[in-house]
Amino acid sequence: MALRSANITVMIQAAHKAARPLVRDFGEVENLQVSIKGPGDFVSAADRRAEQILRRELSRARPTFGFLLEESGVIPGEDREHRWVVDPLDGTTNFLHGLPHFAVSIALERRGELIAGVVYDPIKDELFCAEKGAGAYLNDRRLRVSGRSDLANCLIGTGIPVLNWPGREQGFAGQLERLAGEVAGIRRLGTASLDLAYVAAGRLDGFWEFGLKPWDVAAGIVLVREAGGLVGRLEGEGDLAAGTLVASNAVIHPRLVQLLRVNQ
Ligand code: IPD
Ligand code: CA
Ligand code: CA
Repeated sequence: MALRSANITVMIQAAHKAARPLVRDFGEVENLQVSIKGPGDFVSAADRRAEQILRRELSRARPTFGFLLEESGVIPGEDREHRWVVDPLDGTTNFLHGLPHFAVSIALERRGELIAGVVYDPIKDELFCAEKGAGAYLNDRRLRVSGRSDLANCLIGTGIPVLNWPGREQGFAGQLERLAGEVAGIRRLGTASLDLAYVAAGRLDGFWEFGLKPWDVAAGIVLVREAGGLVGRLEGEGDLAAGTLVASNAVIHPRLVQLLRVNQ
């Protein structure tokens, strides 16, 4: 990255610190798969530990900023303008099953606006970061969303609602059916922050998912925007982390939204 701001440097250092024990714990998960209890509790502990490290590191560097943390919720800071939005372990189900695809996600909000994002995949050692107005990067390489315009060549990511997830009643099956008739492929990779990072990197041409939370998407939104892509909400104006998030390169965005919306 050409010139890293002080905030981005703080975020990157915190992500690396939290990722180190996560990688060690991931190695342990394989051994626990065969135990009767399974790795469930162990993974929850790893998740909480990573969150504590992030909280400690970010507070140390910026003592007045507030937090929105997946596990601990809202922690107001003395500085009412700045807030970290943190998912210590995105892709828990992958982690739990020994699937090497998960990330640490950190975003920075200023007066409610997302201004910086870091998504770190420690297994592939891929660090995605972006700052408003300064572009998006994967390690030291500048990122651009894909240039594909024909949906028939496009690879699209999504999240499949399971069990009692609300998305099942939101017409997901119909969306899948309609898109399947138009695109080159549909992927469910299981880590929303990385799905968005992959849209920024042009690996995926688009992505949609219903019911994501702010910590799943905050950093990824900055990445997609800074890579020249569009992020919107299928249900129209409103909170991006409520409803169905749609992110893609700018060319296919209107058609993607149109296909996903039918019969909503
Ligand atoms: C989940 C992942 C997943 C998405 C879910 C999220 P978690 O986050 O991002 O890809 O489909 O909606 O809850 O629970 O692994 O932090
Ligand atoms: Ca998450
Ligand atoms: Ca999580």
